[in-house]
Amino acid sequence: HLLGVGTGPLAGKTAIVTSGPTHEPIDPVRYIANRSSGRQGHAIAAALARLGADVTLISGPVAIPDPSGVRTIHVERAEEMRDAVVSRLPTDIAVMVAAVADWRVAASANQKIKKRADEAPPSLELAENPDILKTVGHHPQRPKLVVGFAAETQDVEANGRQKLDRKGADLIVANDVSPESGVMGGTINRVKIISMSGAEDWPEMTKDEVAERLAALIASRLSAN
Ligand code: CTP
Ligand code: CA
Repeated sequence: HLLGVGTGPLAGKTAIVTSGPTHEPIDPVRYIANRSSGRQGHAIAAALARLGADVTLISGPVAIPDPSGVRTIHVERAEEMRDAVVSRLPTDIAVMVAAVADWRVAASANQKIKKRADEAPPSLELAENPDILKTVGHHPQRPKLVVGFAAETQDVEANGRQKLDRKGADLIVANDVSPESGVMGGTINRVKIISMSGAEDWPEMTKDEVAERLAALIASRLSAN
């Protein structure tokens, strides 16, 4: 699959996808992060490319390979991810799948913080990270279709709908990430698609199947407009 010569329902469309966690440095050797394998975001980038879209994947640090047929840009911190996304607007499609760390360390240390027998453990002061989905959803160059995820451990639909409204998204893919769901780090997912017009439960399927079906839904929503 060659980049940018797609045929298919998304030929001629551009897409940005974020994936993976972000790493927020404490010092040069330590960081805070969310749990995220990048599997779902990478699969969505690949599925959009298979439908012909010109896809830029902006990925935090993950252990899986770059998907084929996609331009991949590697970033570490949320602020870098935000800059990489915003600098690529306008696009037709944005799918924000990354598990962005909500907070960064307000003043990360330039040198490794050392343990000292005579001192209490350090405390960390946190600062809130930019909300990349919200930035894109309210941007003057807003993509035609903005899709977010909602990782919830309870009240999945209500929390997902709040995110749809607050962040200016067209679709929210809400999933239950409570430990007993087995979704985190695994290959299966069970999602609910939330839009202005309602909510739809998709059956349990692999993350690749969710990606395939979401890419098809994105293509049909774009062609309906
Ligand atoms: N997101 C983002 N930038 C952030 C935080 C979240 O772009 N700083 C995006 C995620 O990629 C996802 C959506 O927002 O598409 C929802 O992420 P989530 O963590 O579920 O929502 P939050 O708004 O951070 O709320 P909370 O973690 O408190 O549930
Ligand atoms: Ca969050």
